[in-house]
Amino acid sequence: MSERLARSSRLESGCGQARVRASRYHSFVAWYKEWFGAEYLELYAHRNRGEAETHIDFVESVLGEDRSGAVLDLACGAGRHTEILRQRGFRALGFDLSLTLLTQAPHLPRVAGDMCCLPFSDSIFSRVLNFFTSFGYFESEEENFRVLEEVARILRPGGGFLIDLFNRQQVVANLVGQEHRKLEGYTAEIQRWFDASTQRVNKRIRVHSPNRPVQTFVESVRAYEKEEVLNGLEQAGLGVTALYGSFLGEDFNSDSERLILVGSKPE
Ligand SMILES: C[S@@+](CC[C@H](N)C(=O)[O-])C[C@H]1O[C@@H](n2cnc3c(N)ncnc32)[C@H](O)[C@@H]1O
Repeated sequence: MSERLARSSRLESGCGQARVRASRYHSFVAWYKEWFGAEYLELYAHRNRGEAETHIDFVESVLGEDRSGAVLDLACGAGRHTEILRQRGFRALGFDLSLTLLTQAPHLPRVAGDMCCLPFSDSIFSRVLNFFTSFGYFESEEENFRVLEEVARILRPGGGFLIDLFNRQQVVANLVGQEHRKLEGYTAEIQRWFDASTQRVNKRIRVHSPNRPVQTFVESVRAYEKEEVLNGLEQAGLGVTALYGSFLGEDFNSDSERLILVGSKPE
């Protein structure tokens, strides 16, 4: 089968559905197709433009300031990083699955789609950036690592990437099991747990709004060890040049909040 045909048949069959049920009665729709809407935006309102400015400062310091090539903000959400990149003169494009999030920034160039089958030609981006734990959502390892193969495919030789994940050790050790958050217009009741059988960090979010039935959402992210991601990147043909534990440039260690992988596609 040609590579083009193989890719289109993957598109038709779709990517896997991470099966953590939101409730007994909930259908098996992949959690990431349901959760990234208005409630996500409100719950994560602190993941804002100010934070994104720090992220892009860091990108410029580790990947350089060259503005000549195209930059993909992979899983861009509402476009907070795309917007700053463009304001700083980068030719940035946002890409995301959530139409609700993509439509938050109608002034930005953006494309809708699934990150396991990127609708871009080979070798056209000079940078691919993936912020705020936007990896490890699919149920199978094959699908998650296919995303890295797609990143390698669309990067030009010598092009750089940055992938920003949570640090598994730190997150699992500090998991807050139950939390109640009062937000504008609703209350969120959050349960978190680590499932050792699937190696996933799961979150169940029950949203209580006045005059509406309770809505239940799930987040379920594969908690990768650093070595697993390094291995996946190597298998995809990408080289890692540095690991960081924060966007302040601190070295990665077991207590770091983030696992930030920076590297490039070999020339
Ligand atoms: C935690 S959010 C991060 C958003 C953004 N990077 C930021 O920092 O604000 C994860 C994003 O991944 C997107 N996403 C989830 N599954 C996806 C998929 N299969 N393909 C493309 N994007 C996906 C969601 O819609 C959401 O915008």
